[in-house]
Amino acid sequence: MSNKPKVLVTSRIPEEGMRILEEYCHVKVFDYEGVFPRDLLLKEVKGVDAIVCLLADRIDDEVMDAAGPQLKIIANYAVGFDNIVVDAATKRGIMVTNTPGVLTDTTADLAWALILATARRVVEGDKFLRQGKFKGWKPMLLLGTDVHHATLGIIGFGNIGRAVARRAIGFDIKVIYYSAHRASEEVEKKLNAEYRSLDDLLREADFISIHVPLTKETRHLIGERELKMMKKEAYLINTARGPIVDEKALAKALKEGWIRGAGLDVFEREPEVAPELLQLDNVVLLPHLGSASYATRAKMATMAAENVIKVLKGEVPPNLVNPEVVKRR
Ligand code: NAP
Ligand code: GLV
Ligand code: GLV
Repeated sequence: MSNKPKVLVTSRIPEEGMRILEEYCHVKVFDYEGVFPRDLLLKEVKGVDAIVCLLADRIDDEVMDAAGPQLKIIANYAVGFDNIVVDAATKRGIMVTNTPGVLTDTTADLAWALILATARRVVEGDKFLRQGKFKGWKPMLLLGTDVHHATLGIIGFGNIGRAVARRAIGFDIKVIYYSAHRASEEVEKKLNAEYRSLDDLLREADFISIHVPLTKETRHLIGERELKMMKKEAYLINTARGPIVDEKALAKALKEGWIRGAGLDVFEREPEVAPELLQLDNVVLLPHLGSASYATRAKMATMAAENVIKVLKGEVPPNLVNPEVVKRR
């Protein structure tokens, strides 16, 4: 084998990224249908200089130890990096990178797809028609909720949250947001968005869309208490991370009518979905498609590969999430 650096790619990414990696590295790439099996991860990671992993691959102390001291970079093929124990990487001098920015608009589009699909009962309507139930236009058939002129509450006003707000302008929607830090006056003015406390946002919004990362602070940020504060006619949209919402409480809320509907792209124990949710018509369920456009997945692949190459050349990668590591090297 050549003395090129070794890279483990736990699941094949688009060619744009594979090509870059293959030019500089010896690449081991897998094509599993589901999540890359843990025992295989622990075996295949041994001796590699870089890992390109997915959000379902948990990269913790055990994996880093199994890799060995030559491991230099963990490049997540996602913007969210809650699957990586970053402190464990920093301690070992390993750089961690993600893929921010390139997926912002694509994910914001999907949040809007869920807002419209839930409010206007798009999925129910499609099922109804395919089941041969459409016998003619009716005044009361599958009535939904108006999206235009509603109030949209955005939780987490970062890249994606702001892109969702930008799209609201055409719907004459009032945007309110809650986030760790208040945006500048200039941003608030440009996006026509007003800051609220979380509780005020929950009480006031007709649609609530979640865009915070999953952290210790945001786990179960939305539970029974918060769902009960929402309007009975409101909808909850989650395209961030499943564990931010207490899925059992949400299923209860949807079943008992505490809120009118929900649109979910992410789940608490992916790829599992709470069986109660599967029984309900007032929730639209998607298999984590936020960034899933051809163009965006290609850009993410290039970005992840370039992060790897930079580090292997001894440089600081553009999308480093643990800059403290630079001081330790
Ligand atoms: P981002 O630009 O970092 O935005 C996250 C925002 O959340 C920031 O404004 C941050 O505030 C805020 N925040 C962090 N912790 C908070 C807390 N405890 N309470 C309130 N606000 C908090 O990230 P992004 O690119 O918009 O992505 C957001 C998340 O979406 C990702 O982490 C990922 O999990 C998810 N995502 C999902 C998909 C999908 O396929 N469904 C696709 C892309 C992303 P500060 O910056 O002020 O700290
Ligand atoms: C997808 O969920 C991402 O975090 O990029
Ligand atoms: C409905 O199709 C209408 O014309 O109002």
